[in-house]
Amino acid sequence: METNKDIKPENKADGNKKVVLSGIRSTGNLHLGNYFGALSKFVRLQDNYDCRYFIADLHALTTNPDPAQLHSSVKNILAEYIAAGLDPEKNIIYIQSDIPEISEMYLLMNMHVGIGELMRTASFKEKARKALGIISDSDEIEKEIIGNQSNQRVNAGLLTYPTLMAVDILIHKADYVPVGKDQEQHLELTRRFARRFNSFYKTEYFGEPVNFNFGGEALKVPGLDGSGKMGKSEGNCIYLIDDEKTLRKKVMRAVTDEGPKEPNSAVSQPVENLFTLMGLVSDPDVIQHYRDAYADCSIRYGDLKKQLAEDLLKVTMPIRERILDIKDNDEYLSKVVKQGAERAREHASKTLKEVREIMGIRPL
Ligand code: TYM
Repeated sequence: METNKDIKPENKADGNKKVVLSGIRSTGNLHLGNYFGALSKFVRLQDNYDCRYFIADLHALTTNPDPAQLHSSVKNILAEYIAAGLDPEKNIIYIQSDIPEISEMYLLMNMHVGIGELMRTASFKEKARKALGIISDSDEIEKEIIGNQSNQRVNAGLLTYPTLMAVDILIHKADYVPVGKDQEQHLELTRRFARRFNSFYKTEYFGEPVNFNFGGEALKVPGLDGSGKMGKSEGNCIYLIDDEKTLRKKVMRAVTDEGPKEPNSAVSQPVENLFTLMGLVSDPDVIQHYRDAYADCSIRYGDLKKQLAEDLLKVTMPIRERILDIKDNDEYLSKVVKQGAERAREHASKTLKEVREIMGIRPL
């Protein structure tokens, strides 16, 4: 488990703690990308910041999940948050759809968001292609959407996904938003919408929230298939809930290559990915040992994978045990989110009231 000793508290000008806000979509279970890119950071921040973490079930609706699965996924993620170390007494933990103020502010904010800029968002293009079954990554997606005559459609919720995400953040007037690298474009849009709102209404109401990376770069956790990032839709994930056998099997099957043929040769992407994963969980001298073995061609990928599996299990097994302990404790879980919703709504309703006022929606 991460320690919190290396985090210095930071206060706002008014003496209150700075606000940290982040969320994860409820689509299945959490994987190592979610854990190292986001959740482990949430835990590290909880002692020194005013932290608010939520389950993004409205965002999950953009891909039209089965209702029963959506419901159980919300519960899974809540249990996984707590099992990973988030303390409901230290943080506000809530479900996005329990805060109706978010939906209203989403409508208001959309009045200042352009469909062109939304259509150019990388994640929108990717999801729109998927929805329409387009394999090529041509940039003609706008034309494909408008000209599409089939009964597949790209829903409007998918297009306005970044508005909803901006509202999640701005409704808390958050200072920091700990997220992985893939969410940085959305965060950039959030800042742009905040600036636009301020400039249109001649106010300095919203600040410009930034990622929190503990002085490092935003993280992209790779998958086990030798390609890009670990992600649910890529099918290349290790989940926090995976049992020991499953985890070992996945790691042992990870894509590698034929091995170095000459001393000091460049490391191929699939093998570099395994080193990146090791960088998250293994001791530096263990990693160096395998780097040296790669450099002098004595490396055996089987050994490296066994070591990696062992070190990953040290992180995931205690979390898995706690998930199993709490996931069926409905009474406890519903108490956590009820209390979280009450506290989150206090902040959200204040912002919404002020935003309505700024925009000219005032009592007669
Ligand atoms: P989501 O649910 O896709 O992912 C949740 C968090 O996990 C991070 N993540 C990764 N980090 C590193 N490497 C990976 N392979 C990897 N895969 C996932 C993501 O960067 C993210 O931090 N739009 C958001 C949810 C959201 C949100 C918000 C986040 C909605 N509103 C407001 C912050 C603030 C999303 O879909 O994340």
